[in-house]
Amino acid sequence: MTYRVAVVGVGPGREVDISGKSHAFAYEHADAYADREDCELVACADIEREYAERFAEEFGIEGGVYEDHGTMLDEADPDLVSVCTPIPTHAPIVTDCAEADVEAVHCEKPMADTWGAARRMAEVCEDAGVRLTFGHQRRFGDPFRQTKELLDEGVVGDLERIEISWGNFFDNGTHSLDLAAMFNDEHPAEWVMGQVDYSKEHVRYGVPTADHAFVSWQYENGVHGIAATGDDVPLSGGSYDFYDCWHRLVGTEGVIELGRREEPALRYRRDGEGWTEVEVDDEFDGRVDLAIDDVVRALSEDGETELRAEHALNTTEILFAGHESSRRRGRVELPLEIDDHPLVSLIEAGEIEPTEPDDRPPHPSEADE
Ligand SMILES: NC(=O)c1ccc[n+]([C@@H]2O[C@H](COP(=O)([O-])OP(=O)(O)OC[C@H]3O[C@@H](n4cnc5c(N)ncnc54)[C@H](O)[C@@H]3O)[C@@H](O)[C@H]2O)c1
Repeated sequence: MTYRVAVVGVGPGREVDISGKSHAFAYEHADAYADREDCELVACADIEREYAERFAEEFGIEGGVYEDHGTMLDEADPDLVSVCTPIPTHAPIVTDCAEADVEAVHCEKPMADTWGAARRMAEVCEDAGVRLTFGHQRRFGDPFRQTKELLDEGVVGDLERIEISWGNFFDNGTHSLDLAAMFNDEHPAEWVMGQVDYSKEHVRYGVPTADHAFVSWQYENGVHGIAATGDDVPLSGGSYDFYDCWHRLVGTEGVIELGRREEPALRYRRDGEGWTEVEVDDEFDGRVDLAIDDVVRALSEDGETELRAEHALNTTEILFAGHESSRRRGRVELPLEIDDHPLVSLIEAGEIEPTEPDDRPPHPSEADE
C-alpha cells in the first residue's frame, strides 16, 4: 500500500534565514515522507502560492500545488495530511480533513489556540474514524528515550516529581509536558495551579504566549509536576537553568537530570551514591522521521501511536488549566470546563496589557504583516 500524502502550510522554504520565530517545519515532515517507500507526496497547499510551488519543486510534486487546502482535499484525495500551519488554523483545517474523509491527519503542535478547539478537533476526528496525531517528535529523541528506560528500570525507584525548566509555558511547554507525560506513563492530571505573566508581548505561531510561568500539577497516579519557565525565572540567569536542566525527575531512591546545560546532558544519582553519566545522541529536537514512522505504522497496522490525540489532550489540558488557574487565582480541578484560551480572553478584555514589546525579528513569512 502506498499512502497519498499532502502537506498544508509548507512555509517559506529551508533556504530562508530562520533566525526569526519559526522555520518551515513542513520540510521536516516532507523529508520523512520522501524517504519512505509506503508514502508518496502528491499535493501541498499554502496561502502563499510561491511557497507551495517551491516546496512542490523540491519534493517532485507534479500538478498538486494549491493555495486553498479545501480544493486540495477535493482534487488530490490524500490518505494522510500533515498540517503545519500557524496554531489558530490547526482546528479548522483538521476538521476539514476529517470531513473530506482522509484516513489520518498529522498536525503540528500545540494542538489549538483554545481548549474548546482542541477538544472539538479530537472529537470530530474520533467520530469520523480519522486518526489524529500531533507533532510531539521530541519523545522519539535518544536523550528522552534513554531517560524513560532509566525510569522503567527503576534506577531512581518510583517517580515522585517531575520538574521542568525550559522555554515558555505554552509553545515549548507542549513539548516539555508531553515528555513529562511519557515519563509518567501517560497518566492525565487531576488538578493544576499556576501563575503566568504576559508583561512582555510574545505572539508565537499566531497565539500570545506567556514566557514567565510557574505552574504545578498532580497526575492521577500521585506524581507531581512543576514547570518554571521564562527568561526571568527566579534563582536563575536564564530560561533554562532554574534546575540547571530541562527535566529533573525525582524518584523515591534518587534523581535524574536531563537536558543539562553542561555536559553530561543526562545523568542520574541514586541516594547515597555519586552521579552516573549517561551518553546520549544530540537529539534534543527529537526525530521527525521516527514520529512519522510511528504514525504510518499505526495507520498500516490499524494500531495505536504514542502521538495520538488522547495523549496530546492530556498535555494540552494542563497547559490551558495553568492559564485558567492564573485567571481564577486558584487551583483548577480537572476535567477543565472552559472553552477559550484564558490569556487571550484577558488580553482581549483589556485586563492584561504587555508593557514590553516583542523585540524579536519577524519570521520571513510574517515580515509584510
Ligand atoms: N514540532 C516541532 O518541534 C515544531 C518546530 C517548529 C514549528 N512547529 C509548528 O509548526 C507549525 C508551523 O510552524 P512553521 O515554523 O513551519 O511556520 P511557518 O510560518 O514557517 O509556516 C507556516 C506556513 O503556513 C502557511 N499558512 C498559514 N495559514 C494557512 C492556511 N490557512 N492554509 C495554508 N497555509 C497556511 C503560511 O503561509 C506559512 O507558509 C506551528 O504550529 C509550529 O508550532 C513545530
